[in-house]
Amino acid sequence: MAVWTRKDLITLYDLEADEIRLILDTAAEFKKVSERRIKKVPALRGKTVVNFFVEPSTRTRTSFELAEQRLSADIINISASTSSLSKGETLLDTAKNIEALQVNLIVMRHSAAGSHYFLARRLKCGVLNAGDGAHEHPTQALLDIFTIREKKGKIEGLNVSIVGDILHSRVARSNIWGLLKLGANVTIGGPATLVPKEFEKIGVRVCDNLKDTIEGADVVNLLRIQHERQRASYFPSISEYASIFGLNKETVKYLKPDALIMHPGPINRGVELDSSIADGTQSVILEQVTNGLAVRMAVLYLIAGCI
Ligand code: CP
Repeated sequence: MAVWTRKDLITLYDLEADEIRLILDTAAEFKKVSERRIKKVPALRGKTVVNFFVEPSTRTRTSFELAEQRLSADIINISASTSSLSKGETLLDTAKNIEALQVNLIVMRHSAAGSHYFLARRLKCGVLNAGDGAHEHPTQALLDIFTIREKKGKIEGLNVSIVGDILHSRVARSNIWGLLKLGANVTIGGPATLVPKEFEKIGVRVCDNLKDTIEGADVVNLLRIQHERQRASYFPSISEYASIFGLNKETVKYLKPDALIMHPGPINRGVELDSSIADGTQSVILEQVTNGLAVRMAVLYLIAGCI
């Protein structure tokens, strides 16, 4: 059984398989807390957490804030537009001023890949990555993996396919590291311009058409086209993308009847998947969101034990 010793959670690349299992097992216990009549525990009483979101977020920010409330932490929320970043203060100065208020943990989303490593090395408080550019989004992958394990009973040996804009996706990177460490077979697919061949070097199967990507999969995780990170045209048009790589009533026939359909959100309905699929019986998209709360409670609890 692993023991948690880290003050930060920045990537799944850094974690051992046993550390990932410890988070998943701890999350399973916290999920039971959320099913009780009184959903609050005192685990983080006396600890202060700052949610510092420099990029927009609905799911991650709400989920972290609710997880902190359920653990009885004191919470402060800061966004880019309301912080002195907008007046030209550096990220490090802003973070050091937050830390000077004897904050225990900073949960940050930032557009710059590596910004969490930069802060974690310079701060005594814990740093938790809520998404950094196209690099990693560890708690999203942990909640995805938790949902797969809950539904399928295991991760090892499962065929998991990730479809879409892999090039710009922090969700894909964190999922790939976590799933490989736990023994899943990972396939990625999408337009060749958005699916780097280099992933083959770490044991990922790379496809450039939807049928090959998802046929025989136990789980298919569809990703949003991230226009905000794209600096070029990677395919001719959205409608062309939807017709070639979208999951709809026709293309869903490539899937096994018991395959799970996942999406980290936000969804572009009619692009990466049709509404009939997003809201259909194989979709676990909203269960992912529910499980995110338990996973974030687990991560906050484990890190709070080390700061
Ligand atoms: N999945 C995800 O990170 O969603 P938000 O951007 O809404 O947090």
